[in-house]
Amino acid sequence: MATAELAGKHLVLGMTGGIACYKIAELTRLLTKAGATVQVVMTEAATQFITPVTMQALSGRPVYTSQWDARMANNMAHIDLSREADAIVIAPASTDFLAKLAHGMADDLLSTLCVARDCPLLVVPAMNRQMWQNPATQRNVTQLREDGVQVLGPDSGPQACGEIGDGRMLEAAATYEAIASFFSPKILAGRRVLLTAGPTFEPLDPVRGITNRSSGKMGFALARAAQQAGAEVHLVAGPVALETPWGVFREDVQTAQQMHDAVMRSVADADIFIGVAAVADWRADHASEHKIKKTAERTLPTFTFVENPDILATVAKLPHPPFAVGFAAESGDLEVHGEEKRARKKVPLLIGNLGPLTFGLDDNEVILFAAGGATKLPRADKQTLARTLIAEIAKRLPDSSLIR
Ligand code: C5P
Repeated sequence: MATAELAGKHLVLGMTGGIACYKIAELTRLLTKAGATVQVVMTEAATQFITPVTMQALSGRPVYTSQWDARMANNMAHIDLSREADAIVIAPASTDFLAKLAHGMADDLLSTLCVARDCPLLVVPAMNRQMWQNPATQRNVTQLREDGVQVLGPDSGPQACGEIGDGRMLEAAATYEAIASFFSPKILAGRRVLLTAGPTFEPLDPVRGITNRSSGKMGFALARAAQQAGAEVHLVAGPVALETPWGVFREDVQTAQQMHDAVMRSVADADIFIGVAAVADWRADHASEHKIKKTAERTLPTFTFVENPDILATVAKLPHPPFAVGFAAESGDLEVHGEEKRARKKVPLLIGNLGPLTFGLDDNEVILFAAGGATKLPRADKQTLARTLIAEIAKRLPDSSLIR
């Protein structure tokens, strides 16, 4: 989870009545951990599902539930609470509350606050599938979208009532991602980004193989940052134990050849290709079909290796290549090898890891190699670094010639 992206943001978190209120405890924790201040406002119905005491403890601020709260000296909570807010987020947003919002009703603190706001409004619906599909609800949601309200979700799946369908509130982590995405500058809007991430696995027999220690963290962080920057993102991932970033299309592969084939199937649609994967350079010529057994004579198996395709170099050599970005980990002389590798692979930008031991770590320090020279970036956690790298890529993109 990133920390800096919501730092300093002030959110009014409006809770309405619904069983999904339990998810808001976790959402509040994620938002405050990311540096946002969270002012919780609850409707009367919301307090039936989770107490203001719990929400106060998690947000670290007194919770407002009534329009007539004496704590506001001027009795203007409905105005004052939203004036310092960067956004109001209604989560969970009940059927009833969406209807109120769509009609501009103002009969309690939270609805009045929304009508009186001068900041963006995000709603996270949570309701039974029939309530969601009801034509009146759909009309209200369409109206809200037309009014510029951001509607996040809903999800589909099992519901608290036992039914299955659309209407589930997004999980807390997905809601957090959607809010972070809302605040990210859309510097890659309309661009399509194809990435590779993680290691590859080259089988020797059905249970053994050659791989490396790449965790996929840097590639997944870049996929997430590109999605938040407004791009359509396709992530081709080797075997890693990481969750797919919200809004990213993921394709799982095992071998370098499969990764190559997946990239080649999609690269014609991409404006940007980022090869983050630590692709195995070789594979066994013939992997054994059966598990290789120890023999009585203790003869050791031998393998002949053949070279894997270089995915990045192949992409860069296409007649109309996307803006191709490579990564490199060197054990020494990065300044020399980085520029040499960039030129050899014919890519406009190569990101050199300072030290090969970045594998699996949560932070990283890199040098950017571009035609104009090399630039060192300060050490940062991989998500912060990913945002910086996406900004570096965005500013180097030719205006339109590469949008195909
Ligand atoms: O040649 P080297 O492996 O150091 O280059 C690293 C860069 O090349 C990375 O961007 C990596 O994803 C890419 N690469 C590739 N296919 C290979 C080997 C490396 O795309 N077979």
